[in-house]
Amino acid sequence: MNRSLSLPTADRHQPALSLSVIFAPIQTELAQVERQLFNWAKASSPALRDIARQTVSRPGKLIRPGLFLLITGYFGYDNKDKIKIAATIEAIHSASLIHDDIIDSSALRRGQATAFKAFGPEFSLLFGDYLFIKSIGRALEFKNNKIAEILAEASGQMIEGEIEELAQSFNLELTEKAYFKIIGKKTASLFQASCRLASELAGTPAEIKSELETYGFNLGLVFQIVDDLLDLKGETRETGKSRFSDLREGRITLPLIRAIKTWPEEQKKKVAGWLKRRHGEWPEPVVSFNDFLLELETGGALGSSLKTAEKLAERAKACLAKLEASPYQESLIKLTEFVLKREK
Ligand code: IPE
Ligand code: IPE
Ligand code: MG
Ligand code: MG
Repeated sequence: MNRSLSLPTADRHQPALSLSVIFAPIQTELAQVERQLFNWAKASSPALRDIARQTVSRPGKLIRPGLFLLITGYFGYDNKDKIKIAATIEAIHSASLIHDDIIDSSALRRGQATAFKAFGPEFSLLFGDYLFIKSIGRALEFKNNKIAEILAEASGQMIEGEIEELAQSFNLELTEKAYFKIIGKKTASLFQASCRLASELAGTPAEIKSELETYGFNLGLVFQIVDDLLDLKGETRETGKSRFSDLREGRITLPLIRAIKTWPEEQKKKVAGWLKRRHGEWPEPVVSFNDFLLELETGGALGSSLKTAEKLAERAKACLAKLEASPYQESLIKLTEFVLKREK
């Protein structure tokens, strides 16, 4: 069975670049961001401290604050609030994950129990709300309306995307257009906002600003397509998340949409039947996830989804053409490669 579980393009087999190399120019600042998040968690009210430790003060890949810091670094922008702004971006991301894990009934995140699993949905829901509101409150403290405006807009988009995705669960008729709209909102919006915020603060010329926003948006789309592929093919020890979560929850991702297109009506009906057996009955005894994966691979749906991600990554990279050569610019280019080839 395992022979069919590797992604089909040759490129995929080349090891992904390491994030620590890519983030080398901002290493010190990212460590300060982590410390800031830890301090905010420590300063939370006692009732929230444990859940805060479980979530915000246990860092993930820090890609969104990384984007913000690479771009501000490129423009040589410095400001006393820079670290706090980057940490606020990450706190918004954390809030979205805490809510997402409730919605997806996910037990595992960053290799450990999710807040949902450890503290239950009630605490997790409230803590996610608290983090969102606190973050927007912090954004207002920076005394620059643009910051709060950009972060509030992105947060709203992310929630809209999550709602739309949830509403479309188990809908085998979902179109690619609708899928891209969903991932554009739920994931790419915060990538884009991180880039926009950086160029806005640095006073970047409009033309470059818009290229950087498009870079961030496309990078976010690539990030989510790869995430959807990792849900099917990734190793839990790498991703730190449970595999097949999307299938279990009936989330209709790009590989599934592509596979459905190639299936005869009868096969569609069979798969719809499988999917409708929601958790509890899933995965046994109806069908194993690996058998399901084989069905998905019919017609090359996984390979073609990866190809789409590759094209979008190229589009993202092209947006950086107007930047001058520098370690920051180089890291932004390498980040597209990382996002495409990542295994975690
Ligand atoms: C996970 O984002 C949520 C998605 C948009 C797929 P990350 O993979 O960036 O999460 P962490 O912060 O590194 O854990
Ligand atoms: C959610 O997408 C992304 C968010 C913006 C919260 P997923 O549900 O695919 O994210 P993971 O796989 O749980 O990290
Ligand atoms: Mg999820
Ligand atoms: Mg996912």
